[in-house]
Amino acid sequence: MTTPQQINDLNEAFRHAVNVSPSSPNAVSTSPSTSYMSKYGDQRLRSFSVTKPVKALKPFSTGDIKILLLENVNQTAINIFNSQGYQVEFYKTSLSEEDLINKIKDVHAIGIRSKTKLTENVLKHAKNLVVIGCFCIGTNQVNLEAAAKLGIAVFNSPFSNSRSVAELVIAEIITLARQLGDRSIEMHTGTWNKVSAKCWEIRGKTLGIVGYGHIGSQLSVLAEAFGMNVIYYDVLMIMALGTAKQVPTLNDLLNQADFVTLHVPETPETKHMISTPQIAAMKDGAYLINASRGTVVDIPALVDAMKIGKIYGAALDVYPNEPSKNGTGLFSNELNDWATELTSLRNVILTPHIGGSTEEAQSAIGVEVGTVLTKYINEGISTGAVNFPEVALRALDLDQENSVRVLYIHQNVPGVLRTVNHILANYNIEKQFSDSRGEIAYLMADISDVNSAEIKDLYEHLENTPNKISIRLLY
Ligand SMILES: NC(=O)c1ccc[n+]([C@@H]2O[C@H](COP(=O)([O-])OP(=O)(O)OC[C@H]3O[C@@H](n4cnc5c(N)ncnc54)[C@H](O)[C@@H]3O)[C@@H](O)[C@H]2O)c1
Repeated sequence: MTTPQQINDLNEAFRHAVNVSPSSPNAVSTSPSTSYMSKYGDQRLRSFSVTKPVKALKPFSTGDIKILLLENVNQTAINIFNSQGYQVEFYKTSLSEEDLINKIKDVHAIGIRSKTKLTENVLKHAKNLVVIGCFCIGTNQVNLEAAAKLGIAVFNSPFSNSRSVAELVIAEIITLARQLGDRSIEMHTGTWNKVSAKCWEIRGKTLGIVGYGHIGSQLSVLAEAFGMNVIYYDVLMIMALGTAKQVPTLNDLLNQADFVTLHVPETPETKHMISTPQIAAMKDGAYLINASRGTVVDIPALVDAMKIGKIYGAALDVYPNEPSKNGTGLFSNELNDWATELTSLRNVILTPHIGGSTEEAQSAIGVEVGTVLTKYINEGISTGAVNFPEVALRALDLDQENSVRVLYIHQNVPGVLRTVNHILANYNIEKQFSDSRGEIAYLMADISDVNSAEIKDLYEHLENTPNKISIRLLY
């Protein structure tokens, strides 16, 4: 048990470590110094931790962890990696294929956004790579199958920008209801046009949300705060937030909503989910918003409906074909043959897929991907991987000194587990979990009472098994 004197000593040492006096009114605690941690850290964890202390694992045989970060990945991620002691090499831009091949040879992890192409050719040079972090939503820039075959897990950040999209949609609902886009364009061209006809408050109007997932449900809460009635349609039964109500069919939603907003994924079922029959089912003078995926709305059908005044306004953030870079003249008929017709309509807000593009979303993506990469590197946990079996085990306790975590990625063929478990059979397997996805399988096992001299042998035995793709031991 810790005595009052020991607690006093620890408090003093802590104040010294963070350089604050006991009476300092603005005392801010920062990370304790290394000398403080080496003297008191272990004792502090054992005596005062509220949660159970867990053992920090380190890899056998991979040396110091090196991470290559490209395309100006957010500082929040760099902070996470620095705090782990990883070696971070950072570039603001993407690299040419040749430079990428040179750099990727040595690193254990790479962080990219959408411009860096991790092709099969690039990946085959990545001899030490264990994980790829896409600091964005999409993962098309990575050959996911090739990565999985090489035992490289890929993570992304699908939901960090949900709030940003929801806020944009709220802004668009008001903008459409008040025809703000048109008034602004008129003022920019010198026209004063003070009108109130067909301009509305949104209070008391009905918002119909199609797809009540991360974005749809955030939006539901915001819309109710503006005094809107919210109804939603989803293929799943989802508990309503606030006083929103789920409706049984898409038609029920379309019949009742003054504003229809789409938040479904791109699937064969959602392609042209809103086309002529669905628009016909909408209220006369309703508004349509799409910030989901470009294929969800049949845009020529929307153009027709707007021309005859069936739909009073629309906001589109996504399109079936989108330019791959910024620049003037790119949103043209060459890309989508209805572009000129769409851009000539009144009360249509067109934005270049910016729903999730905010500083906050970038920072949240940095934290989310930085954290999952660290968990994968330090603990082997692959929950949330997009190309890989999802495997997790609870952490090892701090006092499990001779325990080793085995991370074994292999081809998904019969007999592999028998071979591996035969090698592990000399030890107590404390816990074990294995899962497969397509041709790849991933086994995680915590084994105890392994002395340091045995680790190398264990590694070599596992390394020489047939059907192994890659192996890491953490201890
Ligand atoms: N504009 C942008 O910048 C931007 C940013 C982020 C996400 N998105 C897009 O927004 C969409 C929604 O994202 P999310 O994060 O809310 O997704 P999510 O997976 O959290 O939610 C999608 C919801 O749609 C439902 N759904 C699926 N198929 C359906 C169907 N046929 N009919 C009705 N409901 C259906 C699902 O059950 C789920 O509840 C996605 O298409 C995503 O790609 C766009």
